[in-house]
Amino acid sequence: MNLSTEDFFKLRNLIYNMAGLFFEPRKIYFVKKRIEKRLDALGMDSVSDYVHKLTYQDRDGRELQSLLNSLTTNETYFFRENNQLDAFARFNLSERLKEKKNKGDFELRIWSAGCSSGEEPYTLAIILLESIENVRLWDIQVMATDIDTQILEKAQEGLYDERSVRNVSPQVLKKYFLASADGFRVRSNVREMVNFAHLNLYDHKAVSRIRKVDFLFCRNVLIYFDDASRKAVVADFYDALADGGFIYLGHSEALTRIHSAFEIRRAGGFIVHQKIGQEGLL
Ligand SMILES: C[S@@+](CC[C@H](N)C(=O)[O-])C[C@H]1O[C@@H](n2cnc3c(N)ncnc32)[C@H](O)[C@@H]1O
Repeated sequence: MNLSTEDFFKLRNLIYNMAGLFFEPRKIYFVKKRIEKRLDALGMDSVSDYVHKLTYQDRDGRELQSLLNSLTTNETYFFRENNQLDAFARFNLSERLKEKKNKGDFELRIWSAGCSSGEEPYTLAIILLESIENVRLWDIQVMATDIDTQILEKAQEGLYDERSVRNVSPQVLKKYFLASADGFRVRSNVREMVNFAHLNLYDHKAVSRIRKVDFLFCRNVLIYFDDASRKAVVADFYDALADGGFIYLGHSEALTRIHSAFEIRRAGGFIVHQKIGQEGLL
């Protein structure tokens, strides 16, 4: 299959405009491989015909979604970057719970944005169960969203192999997973806490429906964006957060460059960003 530079740029722009994902020219081989798969699935052999199909004949966006599903990087596992999660539980979560309790507010909203196959939101649900005293007093929502429709199906199933649970301690594994010949299934009390939904973070209108989030985890997602699309998404995250809400990115991702309205906080050796609301600014 021959992918011309012109077709690569056309496809790249389609993907970027829809999802904010940015493929540099050095990624041409990766993109080519994924397109080959789509062509095989459709029984097509010309990339130009495929680009034409995507541009003019894909009214319901189904093919673009399939292409996106094949281009996303879904690598994840339970308790990934666990030191950061530990700092979240020990410092920010307990602080936030205390504040809320004092105000008589027992609602807690957590959002795993770019949740992939579900390991991150299930990990967060387990951490909440392990950390919150009297968890029944709280109305807890763990929202988990991703743009990849296929990976969300896997997430909802909640069934994982050894690789995914490699960072889970034996005690937690026993308490929150059911082991079987098929793998490790997340127990229903954890699964029931998590709501999965299809959401494109680059869709401003869709994201603007989300509000009052206490803790937003968007780890290892924005690394696939460019500065402009990252900036747009982070501005929407800011609005989605409750005053005093926290945002967590992956280790290699910095927020300060993108949005100066967040306050930098340190928790257990980690940098976290907190939305200081109007009250905080006065
Ligand atoms: C590498 S995984 C990260 C999973 C998890 N957050 C973690 O840190 O382990 C990145 C996920 O971001 C999703 N993603 C990429 N672009 C997105 C977009 N525009 N909207 C929503 N999700 C997106 C991908 O589908 C993929 O599942």
